Amino acid sequence: MSDKLIIEGGIPLSGEISISGAKNAALPILVATLLCDEPVILSNVPYLYDITTVMKLLNQIGVRLLINERMQIEVDTQNVHCYFAPYDLVKSMRASILVLGPLLAKYGEASVSLPGGCAIGARPVNLHIEGMRALGAQVTLEGGHVKARAKKRLKGATIVLSKVTVTGTENILMAAVLAEGRTIIRNAACEPEVCDLAKFLNAMGARICGIGTDTLIVDGVKRLHGGYYKVISDRIEAGTYLVASAMTRGKVRVNHIDPSLLSNLLGKLCLAGAYLRYGNDWIELDMQGRQPKAVDIVTAPYPAIPTDMQAQLMAMNAVSEGSAKVTETIFENRFMHVCEMQRMGADISLHNNTAMIRGKPYLQAALVTATDLRASASLVLAGLMAINGETVVEGIGHIDRGYEYLEEKLLQLGARVRRVIDHPLNRVFSQQAESIVD
Ligand code: UD1
Repeated sequence: MSDKLIIEGGIPLSGEISISGAKNAALPILVATLLCDEPVILSNVPYLYDITTVMKLLNQIGVRLLINERMQIEVDTQNVHCYFAPYDLVKSMRASILVLGPLLAKYGEASVSLPGGCAIGARPVNLHIEGMRALGAQVTLEGGHVKARAKKRLKGATIVLSKVTVTGTENILMAAVLAEGRTIIRNAACEPEVCDLAKFLNAMGARICGIGTDTLIVDGVKRLHGGYYKVISDRIEAGTYLVASAMTRGKVRVNHIDPSLLSNLLGKLCLAGAYLRYGNDWIELDMQGRQPKAVDIVTAPYPAIPTDMQAQLMAMNAVSEGSAKVTETIFENRFMHVCEMQRMGADISLHNNTAMIRGKPYLQAALVTATDLRASASLVLAGLMAINGETVVEGIGHIDRGYEYLEEKLLQLGARVRRVIDHPLNRVFSQQAESIVD
């Protein structure tokens, strides 16, 4: 069981909010502090379940973490004594695999439980493992763990990734910064979060060139020092609120976000009929009260439309004028939100990796269940345009993995939304209420 969100839809969002630090940048950067010989201070780290999971993991392997009231985190890795990421943490957050590269590069040894299945597809880690092997490590799979060892310092190599992988690129990059000689990573992911990790590593003394391109060139150094670094803001969070604003026919300004990180998404929102204004670190979207027009979407690696925005854009199309196709090219099985949206009256049909959506002005309130992080977000967005009652989104724990203060921010934009906390007492009371009804 986890908390529920109850939404009364049909109200245009209006107002402004501040965008939090990027989860997918903060996670690898927190892990990359393992490579540093001196303390690191990180700011703009979001307060999220995935972040506390990675902090728990770092803590278990001997990292000392000090957090102040503004979520500035001081990380000191001088007492690392264990090189193991256990299954209970890895299964709740796949990104735990990111400790493989840094532990191996710094301590010559790492053992990480295999992440296993996940709600949005198989998500293998073969490219992470091949990368470590190319750098000279011995990697074996034993009892459900990836075990990597390097007798001496890793050695630079040319690695051509057969598929663009975000955490795979990050893992290899972190291993390569302490390797001897030059590593070239071709077909590297160039997502802004990968760039932020590379910039962090350079700020701590690494020598990485080609940041922002699909070829990263890393000249290995013997050690990284400590320092201060501010994590970039979350383009997926910003995109989610902009889409929410477009589909509710509202007017919303998101602050603390660089618009250039979302250019393809902003293009789609323009096609949907939004009026956009932006500055260096803000974006304002105004629908002038009109229903959006349905837009075709194909997800692909950066700078194309991110797979992490697919579900939210599907929700927008479901309440748009006309019909559109949404094609998912990154993950198989990332359409778990479709049947829940259909329960809210959305007209969606699935053909392999493509969804055909015929828009309508409103959806119908219903009880729906969230299955993964972005699917949960899309159901909340759908709830904002669902009428004739209240939408109840169950399994909202997924949202807490990736959206900081979601309901507070929605309330700030005028949405009618409230959380029901899954407290043991609530369960007792609801069981009593049920037995009274019986
Ligand atoms: C990261 C993001 C996630 C986002 C995804 C795609 C983090 C913590 N998570 O996930 O939010 O949805 O990128 O932008 O940053 N693949 C392989 N072998 C591998 C690794 C990946 O075949 O060893 C495949 C995957 O199955 C998938 C594709 O490559 O089809 C891309 O996955 P990848 O970029 O690795 O996703 P993550 O890094 O797990």
